[in-house]
Amino acid sequence: AQTERDLLYKIHEVANNYFQETLWDSEEGKSIGLSYFKERELRDDIIKKFQLGYSPEKKNAFTLYALEKGYSKDILERSGLSIFPENAPGGVDRFRERVIFPIHSFSGRVLGFGARILKNNVKTAKYLNSPETEIYHKSNVLYGLNQSKQAISRKNVCLLVEGYMDVISLHMSGIENVVASSGTSLTTEQIKLIKRLTENVTILFDGDNAGIKASFRSIDMLLTEGMNIRVLLFPEGDDPDSFARKHPQEYVDKFIENEATDFIDFKAEILLKEAGSDPIKKADAIRNIVKSISFVQNALKREVYLKEVSTKFGLSEQSLFNELDVQKQITH
Ligand code: GTP
Ligand code: MN
Ligand code: MN
Ligand code: MN
Ligand code: MN
Repeated sequence: AQTERDLLYKIHEVANNYFQETLWDSEEGKSIGLSYFKERELRDDIIKKFQLGYSPEKKNAFTLYALEKGYSKDILERSGLSIFPENAPGGVDRFRERVIFPIHSFSGRVLGFGARILKNNVKTAKYLNSPETEIYHKSNVLYGLNQSKQAISRKNVCLLVEGYMDVISLHMSGIENVVASSGTSLTTEQIKLIKRLTENVTILFDGDNAGIKASFRSIDMLLTEGMNIRVLLFPEGDDPDSFARKHPQEYVDKFIENEATDFIDFKAEILLKEAGSDPIKKADAIRNIVKSISFVQNALKREVYLKEVSTKFGLSEQSLFNELDVQKQITH
């Protein structure tokens, strides 16, 4: 028998086809959606590879289409794609006048959508996503995993970025081992998905304060799951998407290869800059780094990292080991 989940998968497939057809074949889709992607310099083959689409301005275009195909109001509502308020019995589409990014499962089924407004506007959220449904749990998916899983295995490293466009632009530059956490802070479930393919992660977050904060959280999460990490912060104001479009492919490759550092150097650079010459702030910075080391699962690796800190800051290993014990008691 067809279960509710089967129906939800099916309606997402229908919606995914609908948004793509609207992008490529309708006048509105071509003049608004496709032009938007062209402005962002995306090639046709990449737009197709990621199955990007467009949702029309009309308030219930998709809802009408799906009702005509025989889908019930009930399933439309539970998919998160439509709502049926009292004053609008014909229904209202969740996504209107936005470009669409389908979100796939590991095995390639469409679970939900991200949708971007066309013009940046302070009043409207830039991205709108599917709500949590029976098949879509945002903390259990990574954007781009389906398109990137082979390259992640082959290169034995996963690049982790913040956004949809970062994944897509890197693919366009031939860098195909990349997934996005989509702006939420990284979860254990997401790390376990990566771990099926590799234990090595390079964090490539935006060069802004939000990116730094997010990378600090992600470092501790990844270490807790036993992953090996490197970190790269993009130049201020850049993200992987803008950077990949500004520079030739080979340069981007080399930049990631050469500029990514271990998490200790990364944290040291940022925290010591903040601390300046104030000894108390400097001690706080070192304590912060030791706290991250306390999340490292392997005792031998912990010792190697502590020795690195000892050398870097000219501190005795003994006092760092003592601090490590203190941190472990606080955080474990
Ligand atoms: P572009 O402006 O299209 O290049 O987006 P971006 O990916 O560079 O955006 P940003 O760095 O601001 O955010 C990173 C990611 O966070 C996005 O790709 C989204 O997944 C998510 N995000 C950003 N803004 C919003 C928002 O307003 N609402 C939600 N739900 N998610 C957002
Ligand atoms: Mn579930
Ligand atoms: Mn950002
Ligand atoms: Mn960004
Ligand atoms: Mn961006």
